[in-house]
Amino acid sequence: MIVVDSFTGARQAMVGRSGLVPTMGSLHEGHLACVAALRSDSDCVVMSIFVNPLQFDDPGDLARYPRSMERDLELAGAAGVDVVFAPPVEAMYPEPPLTRVVVSAVSAEMEGVHRPGHFDGVATVVAKLFAGLRPDRAAFGRKDAQQLAVVKRLAADLSFGVQIVEVPTVREHDGLALSSRNVFIEDRKAALGLSRGLFLAADSARAGERSAITLEEIAGRTASKAGAMVEYATLADVRTARRIPALDRTAFLAIAARVGSIRLIDNVVLEPDGTADRGTRLDGPSILGGS
Ligand code: PAF
Repeated sequence: MIVVDSFTGARQAMVGRSGLVPTMGSLHEGHLACVAALRSDSDCVVMSIFVNPLQFDDPGDLARYPRSMERDLELAGAAGVDVVFAPPVEAMYPEPPLTRVVVSAVSAEMEGVHRPGHFDGVATVVAKLFAGLRPDRAAFGRKDAQQLAVVKRLAADLSFGVQIVEVPTVREHDGLALSSRNVFIEDRKAALGLSRGLFLAADSARAGERSAITLEEIAGRTASKAGAMVEYATLADVRTARRIPALDRTAFLAIAARVGSIRLIDNVVLEPDGTADRGTRLDGPSILGGS
């Protein structure tokens, strides 16, 4: 595995059909599932590790974001990554960037309301990665369903020619969706309220419920009862990330909540026939040190 800190270095190291896994490090099995999704059909898998300041609306959150480069490099190597692109902030943004990529309507609701500017930062860095590395494919987790919709739209609108590969959410054995922020969870019972609420809503959809208000209410109430401070529970079109009143197309039911000092998000993808993608489950604890 080669570790580089510039776009030029990365492109020199990349050979053949390439796949990119963009990350902010602090790797877990969700990132490794993205590597696995690209590994078999790529000559070269590149992983970017870059904590992107543009997508943090709170400087305290940026400072606290977990960082573990040595461990990340070991995990990436073992997972079959060929090139790690880990630029310092000054290499990525030699000058404060004046350009922003705004994927307007798709960024407007849910996270767009609660984290203003977040998706502009994500879209800008992802556009830079696509332009600088020119991968054939790039893998993103369904855990960040709205981000996935933003990235798909940006890749299409700006003709990057990158195929976006979707990877199901990876969960711990008890249902908790993997996130680098999980290392900060103090109240696991409250954190589990998010997935529990989503699964109960998915059960209800399977039993025939189609009303967004009812599905959102089931998810939100369950999470609140467990002790999470719910910010939103929203049924949204999987492509546009806009709220829809009924489950009449492929959608995701998303939830965001504060649990103690951290903020968690999760979702399930629901089909109009009531089937759901609830993600995959680990047999044991996460490499992040879960329970
Ligand atoms: O999902 C993430 O980790 C980040 O938002 C991404 C896509 C790597 C961009 O910084």
